[in-house]
Amino acid sequence: MPRILLIVGGGIAAYKSLDLIRRLRERGYGVRVVLTKAAEQFVTPLAAASLSGHKTHTELFSLTDEAEMGHIELSRAADLVVVAPATADLMAKAANGLANDLASTLLSATDKRALYAPAMNVRMWLNPATQRNVATLARDGALFVGPNEGEMACGEFGPGRMSEPLEIVAAIEAALKAPTALPFPLPCPARPRAPPGRCAAGASSSPPGRRMSRSTRCATSPTAPRASRATRSPPVSPRSARG
Ligand SMILES: Cc1cc2nc3c(=O)[nH]c(=O)nc-3n(C[C@H](O)[C@H](O)[C@H](O)COP(=O)(O)O)c2cc1C
Repeated sequence: MPRILLIVGGGIAAYKSLDLIRRLRERGYGVRVVLTKAAEQFVTPLAAASLSGHKTHTELFSLTDEAEMGHIELSRAADLVVVAPATADLMAKAANGLANDLASTLLSATDKRALYAPAMNVRMWLNPATQRNVATLARDGALFVGPNEGEMACGEFGPGRMSEPLEIVAAIEAALKAPTALPFPLPCPARPRAPPGRCAAGASSSPPGRRMSRSTRCATSPTAPRASRATRSPPVSPRSARG
C-alpha cells in the first residue's frame, strides 16, 4: 500500500490530522508523521505515534533519527507528501525554498509530490503573500485540497477551513492515481543524462520550477490558479499566477 509522509503544521486544525491518520491507516496506508514545533502545541507526538504505529518525527538535528532514518530517507521513502494542516508559514517556506526545520527541510529535499491542505484564518488566506505562495507552489507542481469555506475557529467566516479528513483522503487517492505530467520522481541533478562528450547543463542547470512548469493542474488542486474550484478561493491575479 502507498506510504504517506504526513507533515502537520501548527494550526488549530491539527487535531483533524489525527483523524486523517486513522482514516489512512484503516485503508491500509503506511503513515509517517512529522510535527512542526508549532504543531506540538496542538497535538502530541504520542497521539500521532499511537495512531500511525510509528515514531513521530519532530527534530531536524536528531542523532537517533539520523542513525535510524535520516531526513533525506524520510523525505524519499513516501509515495506522497501530505501537509495537513498547511499553515501560511509552511507554505511560505516551501514556496521560497527555506529549509530551517525538519518539515521545511523534508519539503525541500523530497523527490515526490506534495499535497497541501491549507488551513488558516480567512485574512491570512486572503493575504496576497499567501496567495502568491500558493500560486508559486502550484506552478512548481504542488497539489491542493481546500480550503473550505465556512465558520472559522476564530469566529470569522470565509475560505480557510481545512478540508475534512475524508476529503483529504479522496485527494490523496486521486493524487496517487492521477497520471502526472510532472517528471516525478525528479531526475537527480547529480546524474548527467547527456550523451558522452555533450554538455549536461540542460539536464541539470534549469531550476526545478522550470523543469516542472508543464501542466500542474489536477482535479485535486482546487486552489491552484485557474483551477475549477478556484471560485471558492480568492482570485489570484494573472500576474501573481504567473509568479
Ligand atoms: C491558537 C493559534 C492558532 C493558529 N492557527 C493557525 C492556523 O490555523 N493556520 C496558520 O497558518 N497559522 C496558525 N497559527 C500561527 C502558526 O502557529 C504560526 O504561524 C507558526 O509559526 C506556524 O509554524 P509551522 O508552520 O512551523 O507549523 C496559529 C497560532 C495560534 C497561537
